[in-house]
Amino acid sequence: MKFDLTATDLHSKARAGVITTDHGQIHTPIFMPVGTVATVKGVFHRDLKDEIKAEIILGNTYHLYLRPGLDVLKAAGGLHKFSAWDRPILTDSGGYQVFSLAENRKLTNEGCTFRSHIDGSKHMFTPENVMDIQRVIGADIIMAFDECPPGTATYEYAKKSLDLTQGWLGRCIKRFDETEGLYGYSQTLFPIVQGCVYPDLRRKAAEHAAALDREGYAIGGLAVGEPAEKMYEMIEVVNEILPSTKPRYLMGVGTPVNILEGISRGVDMFDCVMPTRNGRNGMLFTSEGIINIRNLKWRDDFSPIDPNGSAFVDTTYTKAYLRHLFISDEMLGAQIASMHNLAFYLWLVRESRAHILAGDFAQWKEMMVPKLSVRL
Ligand code: GUN
Repeated sequence: MKFDLTATDLHSKARAGVITTDHGQIHTPIFMPVGTVATVKGVFHRDLKDEIKAEIILGNTYHLYLRPGLDVLKAAGGLHKFSAWDRPILTDSGGYQVFSLAENRKLTNEGCTFRSHIDGSKHMFTPENVMDIQRVIGADIIMAFDECPPGTATYEYAKKSLDLTQGWLGRCIKRFDETEGLYGYSQTLFPIVQGCVYPDLRRKAAEHAAALDREGYAIGGLAVGEPAEKMYEMIEVVNEILPSTKPRYLMGVGTPVNILEGISRGVDMFDCVMPTRNGRNGMLFTSEGIINIRNLKWRDDFSPIDPNGSAFVDTTYTKAYLRHLFISDEMLGAQIASMHNLAFYLWLVRESRAHILAGDFAQWKEMMVPKLSVRL
């Protein structure tokens, strides 16, 4: 993997760059649609490429390991071939999902035992086997195994947890560097910087990670219940330390405003379930604000879903029609909303990049932020 920094904004920390992987290039800042179980729910790969213009998607180690399982993924030749997606993929390590989804978790220095949320079967993740599993899945970018404490964690818990995550990181790197990809293209491992909302722990974590000299870094443990201002402060603390020559990925974030605030603080990569999950519930993000399409006010609004939208659904269908689909519980409603929201998120990062290159990102962002959270 290679990262070329193309431009840095003069009035903020925003950057534009290009990540080159064996499955193609990623223009940063980028948003990565979440495809937890080898599908971005309700969206064809064709539309991810042509309508949404996704350059990289996410998969989840926890889910893919449980289902379809490593034997199937290996026999298929990896996740790209299995799911017929030929662009870059990033997999999360399971360090987050095991704590949010699995049952009967037991955490030790060795790793984490848990019961599957699907059938109750017993499993163990360790830093070593999570690297091996991500070798089998075959994503271009894989994540270290970490613990992600809640936003309300005490300093004592956060400190102990960071020690655990840092110990696990050393073991992840050792295993990753001792092994090779199975499918003829290269993979890269990103460490995850933890430390909750405590600046000294974040500094310690960022310094530890930076010294390891990897090809990119993730910032985890944010948007987990802490106030947004704390999240922004932690991003600033960490990005002050992480090398400017490597991409920085803010995990699991966030709203359109969070993304612009992250970009202005030097974040290059984002993922979040919000555009798809909230879309399935009828929440649409647009350049003029947020729409709850189930509201009665859209019942006879025959204007396009989003006249400024870049996906075909935005101008093909009306708000009244989309509301009807939602009220009738028709699956096409969820599909249209998911496509719209993802296309909007990808538009937002493309537009950010264009403004960084044009030199007016900071002004543009100030103009956009108030509009993005208006309830229409
Ligand atoms: N997704 C969102 N936040 C996190 C995190 O802190 N760790 C991991 N592994 N995944 C995440």
